[in-house]
Amino acid sequence: MRNLEEIKNKALVEIEKASDLLDLEKIWRKYLGRKKGEITKILRNIRNLPEKERPLVGKKANEVKEIVKSAIDKKKIKLISQKEIKFEKIDITRPGKKIKYGHFHPLTLIKNQVRDIFYSMGFEILEGPEIETDYYNFEALNMPEGHPARDFWDTFYLKEKTFKKTKLLLRTHTSPMQIRVMEKKKPPLRVCVIGKCFRREATDASHEHTLYQIEGFAVDENISVANLIYTLKSFLSNLFNQKVEIRLRPSYFPFVEPGFELDVRCLNCLGKGCPVCSYTGWVETLGCGMIHPKVFEAVDYPKDKYTGFAFGIGLDRLAMMKYKINDIRWFHSGDLRFIRQF
Ligand code: PHE
Repeated sequence: MRNLEEIKNKALVEIEKASDLLDLEKIWRKYLGRKKGEITKILRNIRNLPEKERPLVGKKANEVKEIVKSAIDKKKIKLISQKEIKFEKIDITRPGKKIKYGHFHPLTLIKNQVRDIFYSMGFEILEGPEIETDYYNFEALNMPEGHPARDFWDTFYLKEKTFKKTKLLLRTHTSPMQIRVMEKKKPPLRVCVIGKCFRREATDASHEHTLYQIEGFAVDENISVANLIYTLKSFLSNLFNQKVEIRLRPSYFPFVEPGFELDVRCLNCLGKGCPVCSYTGWVETLGCGMIHPKVFEAVDYPKDKYTGFAFGIGLDRLAMMKYKINDIRWFHSGDLRFIRQF
């Protein structure tokens, strides 16, 4: 019995001293090992003891076994957690990792602003197909086959593809949506269409083969140029957060009569003259006019009942003006140094 008490104390001291799991493993084998463990041997030897002693020794030996076992288990947990802490040093003074958030492309930023402004003015916001038919892109807009104005809007044609006997092409402007909407709806109409257009262009700082346009039009009884001017002036002042000065110059688009080119007083130099406005004080911004009677005819509106205005704005150009971007090709360049500035 004294022997067991000694074994217990010895074991507990050794366990206490053990500095790693290997030590502990050795201690376990020394005392509890199946063949040579000191406690195991005593337990196995019980049957050779005088019958009287057996229960007492057995009881004591089992107690010691349990005590040593649980001491080893406890120490084991302690060593493992110390080990983890040693390996997983956390330096709480280190600066955290910055999470990179995505953000909108400058064209999307402008697109959303434009949409919100027109929406607030009572326009409904629509989209339209990027693949169009010859009919909607040209013919219904008063540009029949062979019309010389088609050259301004030359585009990419889909090989061999035709739809309802008309050629398919990538739309060059959002104006086809005037026809699509008027075919389906009767005035009063206030519509804004924003979307991608395509042109067969030799690209340079101000020309791209892929561009965005905003088409706006209103059709009702008694719509006049005054409504057009008011609408565009309010829109532009709102977008640029300042009062803008505009002027209209006569221009030609087959689907409007009269047609205008709208210039904005240069926001960069306020009209004094600078490279942005080519020293003229004005920046050519958009095309507009009163919807041509031939367009109303194409959608079977009653003759002389309605009038309407329409305008088409290059969204890219607006973004360039607003964010002072000097080359339209930046937008689709995929250059992150450009994109990350917004
Ligand atoms: N669709 C014309 C263009 O792409 C712009 C425009 C739209 C002009 C509506 C007048 C009226 O250049």
